Amino acid sequence: MGAIGVLTAGGDCPGLNAAIRGVVTRAGAAGVVTVGIEEGWNGLMEGRTRVLTRDDVRGLLRKGGTILGTSRRDPYAHGDGYASVARTVKRAGLESLVVIGGDGSLRTAARLEAEGLRVIGVPKTIDNDIAGTDVSLGFHTAVQIVVDSLDRLTTTAESHNRVMVVEVMGRSVGWIAAAAGLAGGAEAIIVPEFECDYEDIAERIKARHQDGHHYSVVVVAEGSPNPEGDLASAGVDQYGFERIGGVGYSVARHIESLTGFESRPMILGYLQRGGSPTAYDRILGTRFGVTAAEYALAGKTGVMVALKGDAIAPVDLAEACREPRPLDSQLFEHASWFLA
Ligand code: F6P
Repeated sequence: MGAIGVLTAGGDCPGLNAAIRGVVTRAGAAGVVTVGIEEGWNGLMEGRTRVLTRDDVRGLLRKGGTILGTSRRDPYAHGDGYASVARTVKRAGLESLVVIGGDGSLRTAARLEAEGLRVIGVPKTIDNDIAGTDVSLGFHTAVQIVVDSLDRLTTTAESHNRVMVVEVMGRSVGWIAAAAGLAGGAEAIIVPEFECDYEDIAERIKARHQDGHHYSVVVVAEGSPNPEGDLASAGVDQYGFERIGGVGYSVARHIESLTGFESRPMILGYLQRGGSPTAYDRILGTRFGVTAAEYALAGKTGVMVALKGDAIAPVDLAEACREPRPLDSQLFEHASWFLA
């Protein structure tokens, strides 16, 4: 058979290299060549590809980022759709393409598939908002990074009798905020999915401090509306992709004015996507990559590898990325029992 292409598109996250390693190793074991596409869709549009061998992917398990590079360039938004990638697909001899991406990149993959490209999707995003899979690659590591940060911020908040307002990623969902808030013992968790009652949070923080607990930690997802009800937007990037962030500043100001306690904002930002993946994401990335290669070898197309319970299973690609997956209300409810 022809080669299997692999690309990483959208924001990077820990575990991408484990997935690439999985694809290359499994395809190689079947005697099939893997072609790496550089910088996501950009490389497919510009013909920047390189053959990846087993040797190229050795030692990659613990390496963060993506050895292929990534971008938010898109063949539909910034090109002529299938026509802008067709030449590279032909020249590199790609029989199918493994797209390791978030919801936007997977939607693009589904559109290309509808136009005739054979595609297998791999769900990655620290936001964990891809429907069709129980967990997306990168989420677990991001949550661990936030929890480590909350542990550190708590000791300094306690020393200074302060409220720490920690803004975490999640452009339209509160998965990281809720999971890390629960695991880090936050006093309040603010997410886009559920309305936030600032008066109530302030009263509970005041009562807690009166009870002798001299600190509070509030976790807010970047995509939550600010106290005035607006989304904190920081303009657009070079590809027209809206940059979200900064809600932590207005939340801290608001909580300070309601409680009288000094409140400091802390935006964790790209720290959440950086560095080595957890064991969980190394395992998930490897299993996603191996399975994606197996689907490609079997001639499947239009499917996404997904974690379903303990198994990796195929789901319909177009269906999986149609709507974002909102935060699980049960997780939020369980976290809510421990808020101040
Ligand atoms: O979609 C994942 C994500 O990490 C979001 O949480 C965040 O808003 C966005 O990517 C930032 O991406 P960029 O690297 O383009 O600034």
